[in-house]
Amino acid sequence: MSDRTPIIAGNWKMYKTTAEAAAYMEEFKGLVADVTGVEIIVCPPYTSLGNVKELAQGSNILVAAQNMHFEPEGAFTGEVSAPMLIDIDADGVILGHSERRQYFNETDLALAKKVRVALDAGLLPIYCCGETDAEREAGSTEEKIRRQIIDGLSEVGSARLASVVVAYEPIWAIGTGKTATPQIAQDTISLVRGTLADQYGSEAAGQVRILYGGSVKPENIGELMAEEDIDGALVGGASLDAPGFARIVKYR
Ligand code: 13P
Repeated sequence: MSDRTPIIAGNWKMYKTTAEAAAYMEEFKGLVADVTGVEIIVCPPYTSLGNVKELAQGSNILVAAQNMHFEPEGAFTGEVSAPMLIDIDADGVILGHSERRQYFNETDLALAKKVRVALDAGLLPIYCCGETDAEREAGSTEEKIRRQIIDGLSEVGSARLASVVVAYEPIWAIGTGKTATPQIAQDTISLVRGTLADQYGSEAAGQVRILYGGSVKPENIGELMAEEDIDGALVGGASLDAPGFARIVKYR
């Protein structure tokens, strides 16, 4: 067993009105109130972020955004900055989710800045990486993951590496019901840790929490968490239901 505190994070993506988010929080808070030794994070859309954070005050639930711009302010229509997230007491931010990379053209270069800015602001960055089905079939998973880790975290020094969370989310497993086997998840996460060790040294790499994401459910969380290098999960669809997500949080 490592001494890395596990993280179970729920990425709500573009789901839930403010009323639905509030009802979820009222139920979820009670369901996980007795959980210790696991960091619990919910990631609502911007419209509910401030309200969910208020409802989470005094609980064991942290709240993170799903994206952020690297500039503190400016003429960037539709964007939200790190100081704005700090203003509503957000705890962290997902950066470089594959849906942001695919539909909004986010690059490793821009993400490197976002990760640095999030750390500077005191936000916990959850930096995502992962390969497509075609890349896995072509045998280029290792190259893709190494590039995303090296480039996307290029502005993080080794002193701050432990404050970064990495989420490995194979794109072929997201929303497909096709979970990576625990062995595939472990092997690729071990590759992420090995890449971090090459860049920052094995001591710093050993402190980084690395999550698995992609069709995580109450039924498969246990076997995933049993793997040596898997320190938690980034859950999409199955995090939208409070009792179901509470079961995932209580995987032990
Ligand atoms: P699913 O759990 O719905 O497959 O989504 C995973 C994900 O993208 C979490 O960020």
